[in-house]
Amino acid sequence: MKVLLVGGGGREHALAWKLARSPGLTRMYFAPGNAGLDDLGDCVPVQAEDIAGVVGFARQEKIDLVIVGPEDPLCAGMVDALQAAGIRAFGPSQAAARLEGDKAFAKEMMRQRSVPTGEARIFTTFRDAKVYVASREGGVVVKAAGLAKGKGVAVCDDPADAILALENIMVNRIYGAAGDKVVVEEKLVGPEVSILALVDGNTIYVMDSAQDHKPIGEGDTGPNTGGMGAYSPTRLVNDRSMRQIESEILVPIMDALRSEGVSYKGVLYAGLMLTAAGPKVLEFNCRFGDPEIQPLLMRLKTDLLEVCMAVVEGKLDSVSLEWDPRPAICVVMSSGGYPGDYQPGKPITGLAEAGAMEDVVVFHAGTQSRGHQVVTAGGRVLGVTALGDTLEDAARRCYAAVDKIHFEGAYCRRDIGAKAMKP
Ligand code: AMP
Ligand code: GLY
Repeated sequence: MKVLLVGGGGREHALAWKLARSPGLTRMYFAPGNAGLDDLGDCVPVQAEDIAGVVGFARQEKIDLVIVGPEDPLCAGMVDALQAAGIRAFGPSQAAARLEGDKAFAKEMMRQRSVPTGEARIFTTFRDAKVYVASREGGVVVKAAGLAKGKGVAVCDDPADAILALENIMVNRIYGAAGDKVVVEEKLVGPEVSILALVDGNTIYVMDSAQDHKPIGEGDTGPNTGGMGAYSPTRLVNDRSMRQIESEILVPIMDALRSEGVSYKGVLYAGLMLTAAGPKVLEFNCRFGDPEIQPLLMRLKTDLLEVCMAVVEGKLDSVSLEWDPRPAICVVMSSGGYPGDYQPGKPITGLAEAGAMEDVVVFHAGTQSRGHQVVTAGGRVLGVTALGDTLEDAARRCYAAVDKIHFEGAYCRRDIGAKAMKP
């Protein structure tokens, strides 16, 4: 099968690395890809958001399956456009992807089926939002309702900070139209987990658990990022809580969509907080988590192409996913300055040495080939991922690999997985 993978981040490199092991794969293309993907197939000069370009290329090359990685093209209707052109595509339709693309809509769907989530109000004017926030006591969370690359959320301990966040989103419009609507939510407390499920329209298959590390700073401090590291599985979720998450969150949200005439196919990712009152939804995403999928795919033993095809063809009940019981951990190396401004174009060294280590894979995210040199080309640059006998062992290997890699301004958190390790 010829596969076109849309995107060019760490998630897409991990998907491609795993797809490359599928016996059914004959050729892979990436739109637009990155320096790591160069080795696994052909990077084509079509941007991930370019719906007409992707449809045109898929048609021209007679692609058998298009896998859409990032949320922007999913929310813009890329899968609908591919299907309309008679091309098989993995990912939710535009209407289904709204669960991620519009946090106000997601809240409405949750409310409809009493899915556990933080109490929230939705605002379209700064004035109303400000009055509401000023009347509240305790922490509030301010969220731009639209897509903001994982950065549109401000967790505020006092109303003055929340008002500042509202002003930035609604008046200064730092996230553009994504801030036309704002969700103001109660602040929840507890550890966070990422639960990713495959959905084929009917069957839901919940994957092993993972935990992300969103803030830039060690000890979960500083502004949020797209994710600075992740590990899988996490002891925070057991079989019982997984069943509860499935029956109280994933199934009802699918039912809520169905009652709106929307069928969900692809990956449904629930970002959850495990509060004293049980798991509550922080957000839904309509695609594989980045960097959660890096450790998950290093642990997946099943043929990924078969799994993706089962989702697309509505035959998910016929597959079963097998996982390596060993834990895996991914540490993101980012450009200095991220999640704020950073300078691209820094040469990266040590990639081959790190990648040669046993049970270590260096997934590329923001990288680019410049002649024989790989240079930085984004905020999150690499996702160094390792398997180990224990989480401690995986972390040791992962950081040993990280220490072999150098580029000017390189930054990583040194405490990925630390919370889950025994003191
Ligand atoms: P989201 O993109 O909605 O998942 O939010 C990004 C991050 O903000 C989450 O991973 C949490 O760490 C934090 N966050 C979001 N909503 C809340 C909430 N209601 N209470 C506390 N923290 C939150
Ligand atoms: N790691 C968080 C996300 O993929 O949104």
